[in-house]
Amino acid sequence: MKSIDSLLYPRPGQCKQIFFAGKGGVGKTSLACITAVHTALKGYRTLLLTTDPAAHIGSVLDRPVTEIPTEISGVPNLYAAKIDQKKAFEEYRSSVLNDARERFDESTVKAMEEEMNSPCTEEMAVFQKFISYASSVEYDVMVFDTAPTGHTLRLLELPMDWSKQLQLMAGEKAEISENDRAQKERFDRVIRQMRDDETTTFCFVMYPEKTPIIEAWRASEELKTAGIHTRLVAANLIIPEEAAVSPFYRKRREMQMRYLKEICERFPEAAILEVPMYEKEIRGIGMLKSIAVKLFGI
Ligand SMILES: Nc1ncnc2c1ncn2[C@@H]1O[C@H](COP(=O)(O)OP(=O)(O)OP(=O)(O)O)[C@@H](O)[C@H]1O
Ligand SMILES: [Mg+2]
Repeated sequence: MKSIDSLLYPRPGQCKQIFFAGKGGVGKTSLACITAVHTALKGYRTLLLTTDPAAHIGSVLDRPVTEIPTEISGVPNLYAAKIDQKKAFEEYRSSVLNDARERFDESTVKAMEEEMNSPCTEEMAVFQKFISYASSVEYDVMVFDTAPTGHTLRLLELPMDWSKQLQLMAGEKAEISENDRAQKERFDRVIRQMRDDETTTFCFVMYPEKTPIIEAWRASEELKTAGIHTRLVAANLIIPEEAAVSPFYRKRREMQMRYLKEICERFPEAAILEVPMYEKEIRGIGMLKSIAVKLFGI
């Protein structure tokens, strides 16, 4: 099992990508923000990026977040950006169709236009954006706050079907253009990076209860088949020992401790980060900094 430091910090000259995934509401955005604040404070130029369609990174950071990576005041080295699904879709659609108009006849372009109305295209477009950030060499650390599990997995599986989709769009006999080829290469490179433990850390966030554990474990087993291993698990919302003074909270904490054991058994390859339940929701740079210090030291 790797040390938490080696899961968060890049090797010299490399970029570390850290993904946070898990069931809805388990704390992905919070953990992504805390981690990004920590690596930035450590001196690593960090980009915090969200692919969550309901992105509320801006409200957690208490700073405006747009599609253009913006410096987050109050945390040196920290930048944040979000991917706007609708815009990404429009950009992707017009770029593919413009390219097609130059190469194919009208009926093929029409067929492609129809093909692009599938819901898959929007995810493809989001992934495309994601790839362009992931291919950037400007950052030492990139922290990805991803959407709830199912969505994330579909995004990760997409590149495997990239060639198929290209062929479908272009028609069986058509040649793949230089542009398509360059894009496929970028896809492949990012996927290679995601499979490489040195450059990528995949973290599942869950609270120590049956359903989130099972759901994350299933998703993580699926990722394994794509060559991606879960190396970090954040067990969130643990009732602090000092708060477990009434029979009710003591019982709940005991239950959490049992599930923590189950987490360790189900994720033997992962380091476990235990995150306490705080008395209020996680919001604002001040709170993020103080949690980062408590969780990771400085
Ligand atoms: N350890 C914690 N202590 C107190 N509140 C927490 C803790 N972790 C998360 N929260 C709160 O729980 C709520 C959900 O957290 P968060 O938004 O990070 O989850 P998420 O997994 O990103 O959700 P979604 O799937 O909707 O994107 C937030 O209000 C957050 O402040
Ligand atoms: Mg979220």
